[in-house]
Amino acid sequence: MRYSKSLSLAAVASTLLLIGLAAVQVNAATACDPATCIHPACVCPSLTPPKGLNAQEVPQFITITFDDAIQEQTVPMAAKIMAANPDQPLVPRRNPNGCPIKATWFAQTLYSDYALIQQWYAAGNEVADHTMNHIGAPPIEEIAGNRKAINAFAGIPFSKLNGFRAPFLNYSEETFANLGQEKFLYDSSAGALIEDAYWPYTLDHGVHNDCWNTICDKPISVPGMWEIPMHAIIDDVGSAHSMDVHLESSAEQVTLWLQNNFNRHYTGNRSPFGIYLHPVHAASAIELYHNFFESVSKQPDVWFVTNHQLLEWMKNPVPASQMADQPYMKCAMPAVGKEICNGIDDTKSGTIDQGTLEVMPSVNNPVPERVVPAGTIGGRTPVPETCAMEWWDPVGAQCLCANSTCTFTDVSHFPSENAGTNAGTNAGTNAGAGVGPPGYININEGTSSFQGVWCNLALAITVAATAAQLL
Ligand SMILES: *[C@@H]1O[C@H](CO)[C@@H](O)[C@H](O)[C@H]1NC(C)=O
Ligand SMILES: *[C@@H]1O[C@H](CO)[C@@H](O)[C@H](O)[C@H]1NC(C)=O
Ligand SMILES: [Zn+2]
Repeated sequence: MRYSKSLSLAAVASTLLLIGLAAVQVNAATACDPATCIHPACVCPSLTPPKGLNAQEVPQFITITFDDAIQEQTVPMAAKIMAANPDQPLVPRRNPNGCPIKATWFAQTLYSDYALIQQWYAAGNEVADHTMNHIGAPPIEEIAGNRKAINAFAGIPFSKLNGFRAPFLNYSEETFANLGQEKFLYDSSAGALIEDAYWPYTLDHGVHNDCWNTICDKPISVPGMWEIPMHAIIDDVGSAHSMDVHLESSAEQVTLWLQNNFNRHYTGNRSPFGIYLHPVHAASAIELYHNFFESVSKQPDVWFVTNHQLLEWMKNPVPASQMADQPYMKCAMPAVGKEICNGIDDTKSGTIDQGTLEVMPSVNNPVPERVVPAGTIGGRTPVPETCAMEWWDPVGAQCLCANSTCTFTDVSHFPSENAGTNAGTNAGTNAGAGVGPPGYININEGTSSFQGVWCNLALAITVAATAAQLL
C-alpha cells in the first residue's frame, strides 16, 4: 500500500500529518509490555479490542468530532450532520438504545459564543480543548486558559473538559508534557493508518502513531493519559485523508471511500471509525454524511459516541449487546422545574437562554471580571465545584439539585494557577481581536457581544434554540 499526500488548501490540518507516511513503524508498540501495563490504568497500543474481546462482538464505534469555534454559524451545520434527516434538524439520529447520538467538539475561545458552548454541552455532547486562539504547538497558557474561560463562561466542569486536539494537528513533545502537567484525560491529535489503526491507548510508553514525524522516538510518558488516534480514510489509490475528507474528491468518490473504510473497520478489528470535521467547511457535504450515517446505522452494533463515552467503554469494555445498559449511554435530561440559564429549554417554551459576554477572555486574562456583578440582574455566578452545570442557576446563584440523583462534585485537577495569568506575549492577540483562519466568522467583533448581559432569559436566538433542541 502506498500513502501519498493529497493537498487541499482548505484542509491544511488534514494534510499536515500525511507527509512522509511511508515511514510508519509498526514495531513501535513493542515498547509497551502488556505484562506490566495493566488494564485499565495502562493500556498498550493494540490493533485488537481491549481485554481480548472478540472483534465481532464489540460495538463499532463512530466518533464524530467538530473543531474550532462554536458559534451561530457552525452549530446548525453540526446539528444537520447529526440529525436523522437534515431537512428536519429537530429530529435527532439515534443510537440503538433510542438516545440521540452525541459528538465531541474541540472548541477554541476565539470567535466562540459561550452560550452556544453551554447548549452544546447541556444537550449531552462533549466539549474539549483546542486552545484559546487556535495556536499550533501551543504554550501551556493557551491550553489551560481555554479550559478556564470555558469553565467560567459556559459552566462546563473541568472534569468533563479534559480532552485535547492540537490546532492544525501540530503537536510536539512539549504538547504532551503540557497536557500531562494539566492532567488531561486524553489527546486526539495523532493520526492512524492501517498498520497502526490502534484502539485508544494510554501514553505510559509514549506515542505510537504518526511515527513518521519522529514523535514515537521521543521519551514521552504520561501515565494514564489516553491517545485516541485519528483514523485516516484510505482512498482507492492508497492515499490517506484525515479531516474534512469530503473536500478531497467528488461526493460519489468520497462516499465509496467512506463505505470501504467503514467495512474494513467493521469486518476487521472494529477500531473506532472517526469522522473529523470543521463545520465551517461542511455545508456542501451534509447530504453525503447523512447518507453514509444512514447506511451504517443499519448495523445493530454501530454506536455513535463522544470521546468521553468511548473511553468509558475502554475502561470497562462490554459486548455490543450490553451497550444499551451502560450508564454513560443513557440520555435522561434533568428536570430542573423552572427556566434557568443552563443551556436547556427547561420549560419547553421553545426558547433557550442565551448570554453574551461582557469582557473577552484573553491568554493574559482568561477569566475577566464581570461587568455585571453576581446577584444583580444579568449577573452570573460561576458554577461551583459542588453543582452540575445543568442544575446550577447562575443568575439566582443556587444549585437546584435537591437529592442524591443529581449530586456532582468536580474532582478534576484544576488548571494550574500560573497557566493563563502571566502568559505575556505568547499568543500576541486577544480573542476577538485577531483575524481568524479563512472561513471563520468573527461574531465577537463589533457591538453585540460586549454590551449584553449574561443569560438574559428574554433573549432567544432561534437558530440556537433549534440546534440545541436536537443536540
Ligand atoms: C508547528 O509546531 C512547530 C513547533 O513544534 C512550530 O515551529 C510551528 O510554527 C507550528 N506550526 C503551526 C502551523 O502552528
Ligand atoms: C430529585 O430531585 C429532582 C429535582 O429536584 C426531582 O425532579 C426528582 O424527582 C427527585 N428524585 C427523588 C427520588 O426524590
Ligand atoms: Zn482547529
